[in-house]
Amino acid sequence: MARLLAPSAVALLLLVLLAAPAVSGLPAINVTTMAFEEGYAPLFGHDNILRSADDRTVSLLLDRSTGSGFISSSMYHHGFFSASIKLPSDYTAGVVVAFYMSNGDVFEKRHDELDFEFLGNIRGRPWRVQTNVYGNGSVSRGREERYVLPFDPTTEFHRYSILWTPAAVAFYVDDVPVREVRRSPAMGGDFPSKPMALYATVWDASTWATSGGRYRVNYRYGPFVASFTDLALLGCRVDRPVRMVTTPTPGVQQQAAACAAADAALRASDAAVMTVEKLQAMRRFREQNMVYSYCYDTRRYPDAFPECDVVEAERRRFKDSGHLRLALRRRGPRRSRPGAVARGAAGRATKKQAAEI
Ligand SMILES: *[C@@H]1O[C@H](CO)[C@@H](O)[C@H](O)[C@H]1NC(C)=O
Ligand SMILES: *[C@@H]1O[C@H](CO)[C@@H](O)[C@H](O)[C@H]1NC(C)=O
Repeated sequence: MARLLAPSAVALLLLVLLAAPAVSGLPAINVTTMAFEEGYAPLFGHDNILRSADDRTVSLLLDRSTGSGFISSSMYHHGFFSASIKLPSDYTAGVVVAFYMSNGDVFEKRHDELDFEFLGNIRGRPWRVQTNVYGNGSVSRGREERYVLPFDPTTEFHRYSILWTPAAVAFYVDDVPVREVRRSPAMGGDFPSKPMALYATVWDASTWATSGGRYRVNYRYGPFVASFTDLALLGCRVDRPVRMVTTPTPGVQQQAAACAAADAALRASDAAVMTVEKLQAMRRFREQNMVYSYCYDTRRYPDAFPECDVVEAERRRFKDSGHLRLALRRRGPRRSRPGAVARGAAGRATKKQAAEI
């Protein structure tokens, strides 16, 4: 940072650092970031996409007229996809911010997808984050997990990353892996295997996002602004596959060969190496923040999925609907808001809330 900070700003910074919640203690992932122009293009709601003067921060707006979104200019066959995101604050029921990989526009019936979806909430209740994995059109087998975040995602930027290698998928929040799905033969085509593009969108999901559609988007609180910065795309770039190809063409085979080197580099990268410390941090995050798992949703899925690592002690904490049985204690500093104080003086998410999540 070239800019000099005034002494008071330094003091404030120190104070903020000292007051910060216990961080993961994990080494920071080394990410090379880029400008919007270098890797992305507007997707929809062009007038609602605001780019900073240096082109490294993009804000997506949702207002009465439209939501907005951007897409990576290329498709990628495996890679590390990341952005620091600041979510809209205040009343955000019905608002969904999504940061995801997909090839649904190319492979309509057998698409692959990896999702971070942020679900807005009524005032005083926290955003929830959902991750999901689809492969080869496995839309009838949603693999959703939901978490509450150990921080307020509306006051500062936090990094959200998707790692996708031929061997595994991992979702990161800041430097902590929060979910890992390892490829196994039993998963078959359900593991994403075809090139995907990265998407970032904000949209009106009034019909389902908050308490199953009970709370709709209230545009009196708009426009809703989601900001993205520290944009990173790292992986094997490929040409857009021809729509609906069923057998690999020579071009695709060449690309696969070209991707072998990129895959090797990716597997050796910080994000792809699962250390013991990272696995422990992942376990802690999941124990403390996961509020729904498809692995425990035996009503929807009587037979467990092959990749589900069902821990009996953990299973007991979940109902057969996959939702956490007991209220979660909220941690981390939360901005005091009138609504928040009114809602839960004890600073707990209510049981009802856990059920709604
Ligand atoms: C981070 O990555 C860049 C580019 O790959 C590299 O030049 C740099 O040495 C790395 N920094 C650290 C601390 O690993
Ligand atoms: C993907 O789905 C198609 C059509 O349903 C099927 O023919 C193909 O074998 C599947 N691929 C894999 C890898 O499972």
